[in-house]
Amino acid sequence: MAQLECKDLTIAFEDRTLYENLSFEVNSGDYVFVLGSNGAGKTTLVKTLLGLRKPTRGSIIIDDKLKEKGIGYLPQQKSMQRDFPASVMEVVTSACGGNRHERREQALAALDRLKVRELSAKSFSELSGGQQQRVLLARALCAAGGMLLLDEPVSGLDHTTTAEFYSMIRELNKEDGMTILMISHDIDAARRYGSHVLYISSEPRFMTAKRFFAQWEEENG
Ligand SMILES: Nc1ncnc2c1ncn2[C@@H]1O[C@H](COP(=O)(O)OP(=O)(O)OP(=O)(O)O)[C@@H](O)[C@H]1O
Ligand SMILES: [Mg+2]
Repeated sequence: MAQLECKDLTIAFEDRTLYENLSFEVNSGDYVFVLGSNGAGKTTLVKTLLGLRKPTRGSIIIDDKLKEKGIGYLPQQKSMQRDFPASVMEVVTSACGGNRHERREQALAALDRLKVRELSAKSFSELSGGQQQRVLLARALCAAGGMLLLDEPVSGLDHTTTAEFYSMIRELNKEDGMTILMISHDIDAARRYGSHVLYISSEPRFMTAKRFFAQWEEENG
């Protein structure tokens, strides 16, 4: 059974419909790139998958095992949230479960996994954008028992930090078998890392990355 399955999903607001009849499934170990223009409805889709808002029509089926283990989420960043007055440890433990001690252990393990344990005592708002993004990935990792949803995780990062970020995510995917669903505007990264592409528009498409880029080459030369 798929980890996550969407059937005939329609997403609409009072004044307009973003898309209709979107169907796709995500299986364990997939690395799905969600592409599409600004305002196409990518963030709205991810929020719907997480149950933060209701689909207008259609269904979302999440495997019981994944439901139990949890989905990690790194939201799209708006500059305001960067000033959040808390320590790195507080930011990361806020996504962890269990008692105080267990939450701390989980947070340290996630910070270790992303090689930023030395940041744990720092104030979140004093970190650079790249450091903040790693901490937020560690936070998402704490809640992720099998799947990570990442909404434009590399936007605003420099070339080197972006490359490091992609390499960490690839490691989580390949070594830990973590399923990745990443919203991005980075076509090259999708070509390089993606197993599947979900292209969001008024006529959404879902297919293997190989097939998507073969069509892309044909259309764009
Ligand atoms: N609660 C809401 N009520 C009405 N319209 C909304 C609501 N939330 C989002 N929208 C609209 O839905 C559309 C899709 O928004 P969304 O944030 O999902 O786009 P996106 O694909 O993530 O874009 P970007 O690449 O810029 O992040 C936008 O036109 C937005 O204004
Ligand atoms: Mg968005």
